Amino acid sequence: MDFSLSEEHFAVRETARTFAKTELLPGVIERDELQKFPKEQVAKLGELGFLGMMVDPSYGGSGMDAVSYVIAIEEIAKIDASAAVVMSVNNSLVCWGLEKYGTEEQKQKYLKPLASGQKLGAFALSEPEAGSDATHQQTSALDKGDHYLLNGTKNWITNGGSSDYVIVIAHTFPELAHKGINAFVVEKGWDGFTIAPKENKMGIRSSDTHQLLFNDVKIPKSNLIPPDKGGFKFAMETLNGGRIGIAAQALGIAAGAYELSLQYAKERKTFGKPLSQHQAIQFKLADMATQIEAARLLCYKAAFLKDTHQDYSIASATAKLFASKVAMDVTVEAVQIHGGYGYVKEFHVERLMRDAKITQIYEGTSEIQKMVISRSLLK
Ligand code: CAA
Repeated sequence: MDFSLSEEHFAVRETARTFAKTELLPGVIERDELQKFPKEQVAKLGELGFLGMMVDPSYGGSGMDAVSYVIAIEEIAKIDASAAVVMSVNNSLVCWGLEKYGTEEQKQKYLKPLASGQKLGAFALSEPEAGSDATHQQTSALDKGDHYLLNGTKNWITNGGSSDYVIVIAHTFPELAHKGINAFVVEKGWDGFTIAPKENKMGIRSSDTHQLLFNDVKIPKSNLIPPDKGGFKFAMETLNGGRIGIAAQALGIAAGAYELSLQYAKERKTFGKPLSQHQAIQFKLADMATQIEAARLLCYKAAFLKDTHQDYSIASATAKLFASKVAMDVTVEAVQIHGGYGYVKEFHVERLMRDAKITQIYEGTSEIQKMVISRSLLK
């Protein structure tokens, strides 16, 4: 067993860390307050090759491994968890599926600009009546001979207003239940495709979350992601990888809050000595550091399994379940260590606490991760 990172991993960490401090930190509080999408910063993430990190260079990607991806997302999320989810969705929910299952035409037309950061993508599975219960899809994409006709509503779609292309999951054969579902690439601006106003969220406020409405949208036959009727498996496999990204985002939120707390504990004095000299605070810091290290190892393990072409579905669910709990616990403690200062925006930890909550909800709630894990245990 080798726990050491490669030179490339260290280089990715350094690049991501510098980018987060110089490009994301300025304005992060204002973007959160105003729910302002980090458009310029996302464009720069594209220039760095961080929007298609694991995609083959022949399709515009950076050809890196999943461990590099975890490292980069952790560093970005330490400073700006909203930017981290934009990155995670484009990499693992959009580019991954197109590279693995897309036709050559789809790769040339959609994957290349998405992986190189010229375009942004979204993934539309959830619906008003189908969140955790994803097989209960109501959106339909019926075969009309020379095209599919898309009708339905998708909810809570990350990058919903900013994306150029959306992977939409919909029924083509409703009578076959989840075995009749397909995945399609849908372009923004097509007739009948409407984007509802941005959701006013508790956390990750500068990420762009919308309801998407499809009313008789014509999808060309060539935009079906093969195989026909394979859309539900496609969505589940996509989420297996997506959960590594969200676990890394949760890890970054926790690590960011911990680093701020460590610094603050050294600077702030109470009862005549720095906070860090009080055992109550020392024990909190020790607990936080231990939880974060365990979450990081679970993230790396899931990424390692993916990189070595082993089954990572349970490892990614485990990493997400654990890291998202760590993100909640650590950020709550970070606010506590900061006391009154922790409750105001300038000190960042209240934002990280609000940002942490969604990691227990999206890309499968913690309860769904427990279903996935326990089913495999009991099989
Ligand atoms: N990997 C691969 N295949 C899987 C899978 C996985 N993790 N989980 C289920 N499947 C397959 C099953 O093998 C089964 O295939 P067959 O019919 O061929 O046997 C099929 O999917 C249906 O599975 P189940 O019979 O287990 O169906 P279920 O209804 O009992 O459970 C579920 C399904 C696992 C709960 C699934 O609905 C699920 O994962 N729900 C959560 C959905 C989710 O994560 N949504 C997140 C939305 S995306 C998002 O948040 C993005 C964003 O913007 C940030």
